[in-house]
Amino acid sequence: DLAARLDRPIVLVGLMGAGKSTVGRKLADMLGVEFVDVDHEIEAAANLTVGEIFERFGEPHFRDGERRVFARLIGESQGRGMVIAAGGGAFSDAGTRALIVERAIAVWLDSDDATLAERATRRDTRPLLRDGDPEAKLAELRAKRRADYGVAPIWVKSGRGAHHRVAIDIARSLE
Ligand code: S3P
Repeated sequence: DLAARLDRPIVLVGLMGAGKSTVGRKLADMLGVEFVDVDHEIEAAANLTVGEIFERFGEPHFRDGERRVFARLIGESQGRGMVIAAGGGAFSDAGTRALIVERAIAVWLDSDDATLAERATRRDTRPLLRDGDPEAKLAELRAKRRADYGVAPIWVKSGRGAHHRVAIDIARSLE
């Protein structure tokens, strides 16, 4: 049942702009558990923005920090339930993916490329979308990451708006 499955944190994965943070917060409220956004945790730990970390230290360094944050959060979540919004690339890091697959429930939040691009570029916070056409970049990342996201046992489509609806869909598929 749902309460028993909540022993494991629920981790929302999927491309930038899928709505992982917005939907995740709503889902956590619905389930009465804590919500954590991994990008924010990394920024707080480094006292730098995600963009600054990419710029100064490079993506591999960011992925190392991301993996450490996941290990900590999954440990902390034991026995109390948690909804975690992952960054879009977390599930394509082999180590992070293994942690999530073994100790959490991954939910792939998906949307079409145009909707993702529209949402992901509302704020200029995403280093991977800074050069070139965001929609093309997202399509490229989708192709690269599709097989990884496909490992998630739950798949939910998020359209425009309707974040509340999507959170309900996820809660249902956890039952
Ligand atoms: C990334 C997604 C971002 C952030 C970083 C890298 C990616 O998170 O972790 O910019 O590799 O797709 P969001 O998916 O929350 O935008």
